[in-house]
Order: sequence, then C-alpha cells, then structure tokens
Amino acid sequence: MKKFYITTAIDYMNGKPHIGHAYEKIATDIINRHFKQRGLETFFLTGSDEHGIKIEKTAQELGKRPKQLCDENSDSFKEEWAKIGVNYDRYIRTTDEDHKEVVQYIFKTLMDKGDIYKASYTGLYCSGCESFLSQRDLTEDGLCPDHQKKPQEVKEENYFFKLSKYKQAIIDRIKNNPNFILPEYRANEVLNQLENTEDISVSRSINSVTWGIPVPGDDSQIIYVWIDALSNYLTGVGYRHNNELFNKFWPADVHIIGKDILKFHSIYWIGILMAMGIELPECIHAHGWITVEETKMSKSLGNVLPPDFIMQEFDLEIPDAERYFLMSAAPYGKDINYSTDDFKNKVNADLANNLGNLLNRSLSMLVKYFNGEITQDAVTDKNCELASLCDETQKKVLESFDDYKISEAIESVVSLVNATNKYVNDTAPWSLAKEETTLIECAKVLYTVLETMRFVSILLYPVIPNISQNIWSQLSLEGNISEQTWESLKWNGLKAGKIASKETVNPVFLRLDSELAGDKKKK
Ligand code: MSP
Repeated sequence: MKKFYITTAIDYMNGKPHIGHAYEKIATDIINRHFKQRGLETFFLTGSDEHGIKIEKTAQELGKRPKQLCDENSDSFKEEWAKIGVNYDRYIRTTDEDHKEVVQYIFKTLMDKGDIYKASYTGLYCSGCESFLSQRDLTEDGLCPDHQKKPQEVKEENYFFKLSKYKQAIIDRIKNNPNFILPEYRANEVLNQLENTEDISVSRSINSVTWGIPVPGDDSQIIYVWIDALSNYLTGVGYRHNNELFNKFWPADVHIIGKDILKFHSIYWIGILMAMGIELPECIHAHGWITVEETKMSKSLGNVLPPDFIMQEFDLEIPDAERYFLMSAAPYGKDINYSTDDFKNKVNADLANNLGNLLNRSLSMLVKYFNGEITQDAVTDKNCELASLCDETQKKVLESFDDYKISEAIESVVSLVNATNKYVNDTAPWSLAKEETTLIECAKVLYTVLETMRFVSILLYPVIPNISQNIWSQLSLEGNISEQTWESLKWNGLKAGKIASKETVNPVFLRLDSELAGDKKKK
C-alpha cells in the first residue's frame, strides 16, 4: 500500500490558537482525508514549537514556568483542533523526550562531520522571528518587516552550520523539481533568497536564552530554535525511535506551511537534511495568510480571533461551513480575507441552496411520488450525461489535489452540483410525475440526481465531513462515509430499495438567515 506523510508547521506556544493557525491545520486535514480516500496509508503530523526566547519571555511576564505555559497552551490547541475536525495522527511537542534526543543527535552528527563549527559573531537578532536578520532584510527605519521591532545587536560565540556548502545543491534541487516548492510562483522567491545565503548561526549563548535544548557537550550554548523545530518532522514519524514507522513514512510527501516561513523550510531544512544524508521531502507547500475584514490580525490591534470564531459568530454546531469557506474563498496558496457578509453569502449559496436544497427536494419528491423507494427499473446506467460528468469531476478533483489545489477541487464539485440543479430544472420531474406514462422517467431522473449526490458527498467529504455523512445517511447508504475510498466512486452505488421517508428527509445545512436557524444565525 502506498503511503502519504503530511505535516503542518508546529505553532509557537507563547499564545493561544487563532484562526491563522487553524487555516493551515484545516487545509492539511482536508488534504490528508483526501489522500486517505485514495486508499493510501496516511500519517498526519502537527504539534507545538515550545522552546526559545519568545516563550521564555512570555512565561516570565505571566509568572509561569515555560513548561507550564506550554502545557496549558498546547492543551488549548488540541481542544480547538478537535472542535474544527482536525484529525492528526501525532501531536508532537518539542519538549517530548524523543525529540530532544533527535535534535541533539543531529547537532552532534553535524559537528562530528565538520558541518557545524564555532565562531564569533555580531548580528541583528529579532526575537519575533527567532532569527538573525541582515541589514537588507530591514525596513527603511531599521525595523524587522514582520514584527515592526528594532532587532537587537548581539555579539556572541556561536555554533554555525555550513549552509553555504549546500547552497548549489539546494538551487539544483529547486530548479530540477518544479513541484518541490508549491505554488510554483514561490520558487523564484526562494531562489532569490538563496543568492545571499551564508552560513547560519545554529546556537545561542545561555546568557541570551536558557529555555531550549543544550548543545551536546557544551552547556553554555542552546540549540537554535529553528533547528529544534524543523527536526520535529523526523521525530514525528519515529526517526531513531521507531524504525518501522520511519521507514514506512519518511520522506514527507508534503510540508504544509505559511508563506512567512518558507525560507526556513526550503533553505535551512533542506540544507540540514542534505548534510545529514537524509532523503528530502517531496514538496513544500506555502499557503497565504488570512486577514479578517481586510485587517491583519495582531495582538496590539486586539483582533486576534480564535479558531472556531466563525462557528461562534453564527452559533454553528459543526465546523463544516467554516472549513468550506476558508478553503473555497480564495485559491489555496493566495491570501484570503474573511468577512461576515462574504461568509454568509457563500455558504448560503453553495451549501444551503445549491447543495442542501438539491438533496432535499429530490428526496422529498422520491417520498411524495414513490413512497421513498427506488425501483429496479429506475436505476440508470453509466451512459447518462450526469454519470459522465461525475467521472470527469472525480478526475479533476484528483488532478487538483495532486498539486494541493484545494479550492480548485471544490470548484469542480460545485460545478457538478450546479449542473445537477440545471438537470432537475430542465427535466422537471414534478411534471413527469403527473402522467402515468412518464412516471418511470421521473423515477430515473430522481435516481440520477441522488446517485450524483452520493458522488458529491464522497468528493466533498474531506472538506465538509459532517454534512457529507448526513447526505450519506439520508441516502440510507451503508457504513460511514469516512471509510469510503475512491473505489466507491463508481456509478450505481445507490441500489434499488426504500431509502427515505418523510421523517428521514432533513435539510443538511440551513440558510444562515432561515427562520429555522435561530436568532444568532440570522445576521
Ligand atoms: N513555530 C514556527 C513554525 C515552525 S515549523 C518547523 C511558527 N509558528 S507560528 O505559530 O508563528 O505559525 C505557525 C503557522 O501558522 C505558520 O505556518 C504560519 O504561517 C501560520 N500562520 C500564522 N498566522 C497566520 C495567518 N494569519 N494566516 C494563515 N496562516 C498563518 O512560525
């Protein structure tokens, strides 16, 4: 069985989870669920980045020990992932014992090899980035562009990693593998950064930071937090601790990260893996950033929103509409904006009207005209127009997911739903039901629509798992939708028999301004 190993960035534990973190975890969850449907054995790793100055300082300010802060915050992250349906296989914490051992091992191996050496260094350190910046990285006012803070001038004895030695190999890797960095337009950005790449400092003096993993054999130095953090991708699948797991899943098929940390992944991480002689990941995918009502979230503006804030705003019990909006509002990879109006309009149109009503009215007609039963002579064969469209749609979905184009995959399914609505309007089954002679045509139309809905539920399951399960159940299909693989996408999965009654037909998603939806949803 082929495998699929997918990772997210690990989040800093100096604060609570927010919608930006959630955006990435939802995307990763969707991709993971999709590849599982393809029949691949998948492993989904996420977790928390717990060392470094930022966490040490925050803990100090709050009068807590760093580990206590990380325990509390990582619990909040896990709680949020459960609420929004993020189903990972391991939640790694960089304070886990196996991880500390791995980081020290990597550091020691590179020291023994001569790829890590000691030197004296003066540099500009931004604690927000946990990274040294060069003059040309700064704004005109001498500030870090991401954190709008003046970096600190630091003079230290540090350990350095000979990144320059691997520079050409990294460039070649990127140039020879067009899918190594996605979206493709980001590869040039990295190639430009590589031009100025020098050796990097990979430790900090204990006088600057104490909360971290010590350099092996030198307690006066702490391992640079990015080396510590990036190595989580190895520890997470058992590097040095579970050979069977590691041999099965490594290399990573894709690292899902935000555009702000692409440099660390496509340059630093790749250099380290090359130096270690470890196989490289297949792909690094950098997503865009989310803004809320066109404003960048920041602690100082007080507009940092929790992962489930859309669910809270509309009093939604399931995360599906939130997941759907975040993944379909803009091409995956580009920046995306959330606004209450856009959200309401999009989910009302796509989930309540186009999808929900289609299922609802076709099942209601099946109940009204046929007592909820599909007769054997209504079962249409795969030569009909919608069956071909289902076939085409699944091919498009596969191709889109091959390049992690989630919004494109969703659009293909939305087109299928639109075509099905058009088919219902064109064939007008309510008219066909009036005459005895056309009743069988009516039955065939309804079967065709409901069988298409079965396809739609499977194709959209990674994005809207609860709604898809609801559709699945209302079609009286056996088993759980989460167990369905690509094999189920064959026409005639829906069999003859009684599948619905008045009591079993329910809206799968209510319009947010529906009378039935309750006051809070009626914004
Ligand atoms: N700890 C590092 C990552 C180490 S990975 C080996 C880090 N942490 S973070 O908490 O600042 O960010 C975690 C992820 O969330 C990053 O991929 C980042 O791009 C993403 N996001 C943070 N804010 C975001 C938005 N507003 N929108 C979308 N994603 C954003 O960086």
